[in-house]
Amino acid sequence: MSEASSQWITDEVLSRLKDAPNERVRSISEALVRHLHAFIREIEPTMSEWEAAIGFLTTVGQMCTPERQEFILLSDTLGASMLVDALNYQSAGSETESTVLGPFYVSDTPVFENGVAIDAGMPGVTLYVDGKIVDEFGNPLVGVTIDTRQSDSDGFYDVQRSESLRYLRGRFTSDSNGRFSFWSILPSSYPIPDDGPVGAMLKAQGRHPYRPAHVHFRFFGDEVTPLVTHIFVAGDQYLESDAVFGVKDSLVERFDLHDPAEAPADHPVTSQFAQLKRTFVLKRADR
Ligand code: BEZ
Ligand code: FE
Repeated sequence: MSEASSQWITDEVLSRLKDAPNERVRSISEALVRHLHAFIREIEPTMSEWEAAIGFLTTVGQMCTPERQEFILLSDTLGASMLVDALNYQSAGSETESTVLGPFYVSDTPVFENGVAIDAGMPGVTLYVDGKIVDEFGNPLVGVTIDTRQSDSDGFYDVQRSESLRYLRGRFTSDSNGRFSFWSILPSSYPIPDDGPVGAMLKAQGRHPYRPAHVHFRFFGDEVTPLVTHIFVAGDQYLESDAVFGVKDSLVERFDLHDPAEAPADHPVTSQFAQLKRTFVLKRADR
């Protein structure tokens, strides 16, 4: 088939979209067809390569369950999630930057008072998280919900180990000074789930599946514009090569070690502990 006759196919598909009742659906469909056809022209797949591509997407879909979202992993590892994030959340000046939500968020996160431990006795270096939430003028934001989660010291989330046990995650509320705090353990770097088609893709692309150690934070409440972000542990070996491209320099913090004598009076500790002290700047909700 000549280039001229193959162009007919693209034009014909595009022409059949023009009556789509929804303008946005029409323009998205047109862009999809234009870019998909250009992609096919560029790679010139054989029939068996195209069958393999369809087989790959089929396996991605078949791998999805309420606990395992392989399409999110595909979006994340192709940089699509962070591109959508970059186009939607441009931090104006001092606001804390956003990053990927990831697949391990759950809606039944336990709710805690500030200052409690969420590690359920898991082994690891003790961590104290001392946070503050302010607006862009530095005024404390009171009553904001903080939803946090992290990996254990072997690099697993609770949901990867148990269907029902919830630990190393929790919901807190900022107090009258905008502060929140909790005790935990240092998170570790970990491979994203790589036993499915996305893992096979990374291998075929010569890539590793690791994310640098981080703590997730999701902030929301009536007064604020919601924010999904992480804080990454400075010095982690994967900061420059995060498998999902989620690292932003402003989100990297030192988790310095402190002597037991520096622990808050209401939570004595017997050995050195790491501390994350961080102020998060949120935008007030548009009214
Ligand atoms: C996470 O940080 O939990 C995560 C993000 C993207 C893919 C896999 C895991
Ligand atoms: Fe994570």
